[in-house]
Amino acid sequence: MNLTNAVALITGGSGGIGFAIARSLVDAGARVAITGRDKAKLDAAARELGAFAIQADVAVEADVLRTYKEVITHFGDLDILVNNAGIGTFQNLVDMDTVGFERVFATNVTGVMMMGREAAKIFVARNRGNIVNICSTASLRGAPKGTVYYASKFAVRGMTEYWRAELRKNNVRVMLVNPSEVVTDFFATNGLSQKVNDSKLRGEEIAWAVKAGLEMDDRGFVPELSVFATNPVD
Ligand SMILES: NC(=O)c1ccc[n+]([C@@H]2O[C@H](COP(=O)([O-])OP(=O)(O)OC[C@H]3O[C@@H](n4cnc5c(N)ncnc54)[C@H](OP(=O)(O)O)[C@@H]3O)[C@@H](O)[C@H]2O)c1
Repeated sequence: MNLTNAVALITGGSGGIGFAIARSLVDAGARVAITGRDKAKLDAAARELGAFAIQADVAVEADVLRTYKEVITHFGDLDILVNNAGIGTFQNLVDMDTVGFERVFATNVTGVMMMGREAAKIFVARNRGNIVNICSTASLRGAPKGTVYYASKFAVRGMTEYWRAELRKNNVRVMLVNPSEVVTDFFATNGLSQKVNDSKLRGEEIAWAVKAGLEMDDRGFVPELSVFATNPVD
């Protein structure tokens, strides 16, 4: 697709990987809306990007419905959804509590589903569109303390497979992108420590993969793409 003037909606575009994706799509000439919960952070990011800010929580259905109303009112159209917002909690199975479990699923799975559902309504009516689900290499294998985060990403991977099967006949391209470790605030925000150095991935590498996938001619699409650091040092 040609990204010039395309309308892209990026959840969690106020920081980390979503911000980098937003920047690369703005630089490619797209009209971009970003969402996030923290209004001050969101507005600062939108100003820096030249993007349209929509304060919304993907886990809240009324926010999801309002997000699409605001996008259509502001831009009159939608070409791309990037389902990027995600959180985690990392505990051993024996310590896992249901509140934390359901909180992660509400954002990473129910939120992704609701955002995808509303985008699909628009895309099916237009008979074209693009959904990029930012998943994780956590959807490919397990690791200690991964119960809820890894399960949520396996679920995103599963949903993506189904959406692809359902929506191809409507010319909707559904893509899954699996970053491995990326240097962002995700670790600090979600109770983990992260060693930062230049060998690790930045949001820019993930943004490159998303943009490249979108720019392929509409007759083709990349169903799934994993991005690894070449030689990460921890
Ligand atoms: N960093 C990594 O190593 C890594 C690796 C693989 C996959 N991923 C995935 O990549 C995605 C982005 O991660 P990141 O590293 O960029 O995280 P991040 O730096 O923590 O940024 C997350 C963004 O999502 C927003 N957000 C969180 N919950 C939200 C909600 N319920 N509704 C709307 N916005 C929400 C945050 O803003 P607010 O807090 O203001 O809402 C922020 O803008 C996630 O799905 C994550 O699972 C990350």
